[in-house]
Amino acid sequence: MQNKQTLLKAYNFRHACKIFDTSKTINDDDFEFILETARLSPTSFGMEGVRLTVITNKELQKQIKPLCWNQNQIDTCSHLVIFKTKTKDLKPHSPWVEQQFAKRGLPKEAQEQYMQVYANFHQTLKSQDIYEWGARQTYIMLSSMITSAAVIGIDSCPIEGFEKEKLESFFNIDTTQEEIALVCAFGYRVNPQPKKQRMALSEMCEFIR
Ligand SMILES: Cc1cc2nc3c(=O)[nH]c(=O)nc-3n(C[C@H](O)[C@H](O)[C@H](O)COP(=O)(O)O)c2cc1C
Repeated sequence: MQNKQTLLKAYNFRHACKIFDTSKTINDDDFEFILETARLSPTSFGMEGVRLTVITNKELQKQIKPLCWNQNQIDTCSHLVIFKTKTKDLKPHSPWVEQQFAKRGLPKEAQEQYMQVYANFHQTLKSQDIYEWGARQTYIMLSSMITSAAVIGIDSCPIEGFEKEKLESFFNIDTTQEEIALVCAFGYRVNPQPKKQRMALSEMCEFIR
């Protein structure tokens, strides 16, 4: 019961914070906790293709802001996280995929079976590119991070409002290998949060019993 209350309190505390208190910095211990919940998040087939860049440098945040619709979260936050997904390495039969399956310590035959299922799965995804699939994994990580942050009283704002190509060239990212999928700012709020706007559960959910 107490766990439920703790988590619900965190979900109610979390909101898309539009401006952070520039005088406050998240301490290393707290940010490591948030990162640990990212690390423990699931990825489809256990591929672990997400990479994070954490920016605390104020000058760099200011340079990034115009590439993110000039949003105030970018340079007022304490920690700015850029979520990238591997692309080339996620293709079936790549050494990375081989390694991820081998890590499970399964017999060779089982590993090959897994690889076949993985290859077939990617065949069914053909209308989307591998980037779309990798990007989806970053959203799972995002969810873990904004929730765990809220549990310890840290605010956040997920950010899809950025110019992908410009941000990738800013970071000199080799886009044959990885691409940016998402951005998220973490810090401490300045303003009180607005009232939550959500539909009723009955509108969102149907039960088939
Ligand atoms: C994936 C994602 C991307 C978002 N991108 C932005 C953004 O670029 N800028 C912004 O101010 N809010 C952004 N938001 C915040 C949403 O607008 C916000 O979560 C939604 O309106 C619900 O409000 P709440 O989070 O305060 O409850 C984003 C949210 C998500 C989940």
